Amino acid sequence: MKKKTYKIISVIGARPQFIKASPIELAFSKFENVEFYSIHTGQHYDENMSQIFFNQLNLKKPYKTLESGGKSHAKQTADILIGIEELLIEIMPDLIIVYGDTNSTIGAALAAAKLHIPIAHIEAGLRSFNKQMPEEVNRILTDHISDLLFVPSETALNQLASEGINQDVYLCGDVMKDIMNICLEQKIVPAQNNKNYYYTTIHRPYNTDNKDRLLHILNTLNTLDKPVIFSIHPRTLNLLKNSYQIDLNFNNIAFIEPQGYFDNLAYLKNCDCVITDSGGMQKEAYWLKRKCITIRKETEWTETLENGCNTLVFDNLSEIQKIISDTNIQFDDTLYGTANASEIIAEKTMAYLYKK
Ligand code: UD1
Ligand code: UDP
Repeated sequence: MKKKTYKIISVIGARPQFIKASPIELAFSKFENVEFYSIHTGQHYDENMSQIFFNQLNLKKPYKTLESGGKSHAKQTADILIGIEELLIEIMPDLIIVYGDTNSTIGAALAAAKLHIPIAHIEAGLRSFNKQMPEEVNRILTDHISDLLFVPSETALNQLASEGINQDVYLCGDVMKDIMNICLEQKIVPAQNNKNYYYTTIHRPYNTDNKDRLLHILNTLNTLDKPVIFSIHPRTLNLLKNSYQIDLNFNNIAFIEPQGYFDNLAYLKNCDCVITDSGGMQKEAYWLKRKCITIRKETEWTETLENGCNTLVFDNLSEIQKIISDTNIQFDDTLYGTANASEIIAEKTMAYLYKK
């Protein structure tokens, strides 16, 4: 008798999701009875926000790429919902995988839920407890309609339990640690000579959508004691150039375009401090044992705050220099797992499908 083949769809669309999908694709490729489809929502679309990650990380060519980029929240989410629904009906998968907390995550998950297609949510249970963040709404809703929930930490596990979600929740660690370790082991992260700088990314609406706020951040970075290398997200660049008409003319800041994954890891690995509002970069800074300053009022990744490894700064930006200078910090090598999250996810997912 011919063995059943299981169809699994993985939906990606924003920069961090290309990175998270890479070890997942690898883990599922070990199962011969899986037909794995990747769908790109098109949320991010510039070459260096999308295609570069497919090239570097050998990602599967998407079965289809939707066109949801550069739209309002409602239009983007609605376009993803409609586009993914059509593809789900066409492919009829046994399960869909979604990652993190973007509009691509909730759009895809909602389409699947309405068609009764099981949903596996990777990076479940995270909370900032700030519903002003679009991501907080996306992740709460996605968790509550998911069938399999993969959490990176005990905190996330307990959070889901406190919301009544106990079934098919698995503590597996963080898939971003898997892919970072693979790249470091394979020595594909370029060497760098320059080691005397701080590395920055800023893209959250509350730091960028107000001109005075963004200028305040840039002016603060401009006064630090070492040069700042700033990988500028298209959201931030578009606002500075088109909406605020501010030249990228800051003596102490070198703006560079969004980097591929390998170069970004090299910048992280060699800097003296990471200054960011990114979720992923807080973790990567930690694993690479770089001090991090997070320009936010809260973080979902609360464990990184222990022992001064990561510090939240929002109102008092003038404190940044002082925090950087305090170097007495210790990192825990086992934070967010042991870099085998993707294997656990693939195994638990297949066990779930065999049981059904
Ligand atoms: C999105 C996610 C955020 C995640 C981030 C990762 C939501 C609600 N937000 O935020 O959680 O941290 O991605 O980077 O899903 N743009 C370009 N070129 C691109 C991509 C975007 O010009 O390749 C422009 C868009 O046209 C838009 C702006 O950047 O005007 C913001 O993009 P969008 O995807 O809406 O939100 P992000 O800020 O990227
Ligand atoms: N990243 C990258 N190039 C850059 C900046 C970030 O490859 O110029 C990677 C980074 O290593 C991390 C991910 O993108 O893996 C984080 O994505 P982002 O900050 O856009 O989103 P967030 O994690 O905040 O949702």
